Amino acid sequence: MTPGDGKVGILGLGAYVPERVMTNADWGRLVDTTDEWIVARTGIEKRHFAAEDESTADLAVAAARAALADAGLDARDLDEIIVATDTPEVFSPDTAAFVQHLLGARQVPSYDLAGSGCAGFVQALDVACSRVLAGRPDTVLVIGAEVITRLMDWTDRATCVLFGDAAGAAVLGRGAASGEIVAVETGTDGSRTGILGLPIGGTRHPFSLDVARRGLHKQIVMNGREVFKEAVTRMSEASRKVLAKAGRELAEVALVVPHQANLRIISAVAKALETPMDKVFVNVREYGNTGSASVPLALTQARDQGRVKDGDLVLLTSFGAGFHWAAALIQF
Ligand code: ACO
Repeated sequence: MTPGDGKVGILGLGAYVPERVMTNADWGRLVDTTDEWIVARTGIEKRHFAAEDESTADLAVAAARAALADAGLDARDLDEIIVATDTPEVFSPDTAAFVQHLLGARQVPSYDLAGSGCAGFVQALDVACSRVLAGRPDTVLVIGAEVITRLMDWTDRATCVLFGDAAGAAVLGRGAASGEIVAVETGTDGSRTGILGLPIGGTRHPFSLDVARRGLHKQIVMNGREVFKEAVTRMSEASRKVLAKAGRELAEVALVVPHQANLRIISAVAKALETPMDKVFVNVREYGNTGSASVPLALTQARDQGRVKDGDLVLLTSFGAGFHWAAALIQF
């Protein structure tokens, strides 16, 4: 999406975080880790876990209801629904179908943007903007929702401590008083599919009894150091590109809302963008990495905490398995 194509803005924002809290000390009782190690390496102190009777569509619907209320709209006002998730309700059909029904929306096009990990929400914003600008729907609900903790290996200390469950949502439409999506920049480097992902369960490595016995379907493959380097490079490059696309300067940005994977990654991105940390929103301490929910949760909280004011230019930047990256500029 490029500027000058018209105006699409955020009509409402909302988020949902499940109640159950899992602290670093709690993890220390299950795997060989410590609060000191986790805080020093990631900045994460706790994260939230979905209740046993909650699944991805439930979290998505709770965030969507909050965003609709914020927008002063009803589910029946929606013209389209996009759900970004890597931890779907079921393998097929997609989570958006469940969300459309549970929300009580009309029989509008509803679909998932799956597999791009933590970049999914900002990618979905791009798709939603393009759809509105093409004159199709007027009002699009974009959700990022994950119940990662149910699909990960609870014995793998290298990955399990990083993640948490949450959902965030934005209602997008024409004629928003504030929150115009000025520009979006996205990209993919598929040569790096091997350094981060959940590779078992698809057609290349189908689910089998042996897979189940060995718990391989829950094993997140991650080369932490490579992911770290790619994340910093991609998030800062995408940020600079989206600013250039919009003809704006870093100095004009009031707040950066980065994907919340790890405090060290966020600090390194801030350094690469020569931006002080007081202009960077951070909530990774309380929620860990919530995948595609991370950016909309952070944006909603930043707005609710008064960190985003009318007139502010806000930069979203994210990366995810794939590798995918996506950055967006929003003028409040
Ligand atoms: N507790 C204690 N020790 C641990 C833990 C743990 N939870 N996990 C790993 N270790 C050990 C390792 O086994 C290793 O031990 P060894 O030296 O005996 O082999 C040691 O700690 C050091 O491991 P490193 O991998 O060198 O630690 P590093 O400083 O790189 O930090 C981390 C690891 C936190 C994963 C880091 O690489 C990182 O943050 N990478 C980015 C990962 C990320 O953000 N993933 C998100 C993926 S999803 C997304 O957002 C797109």
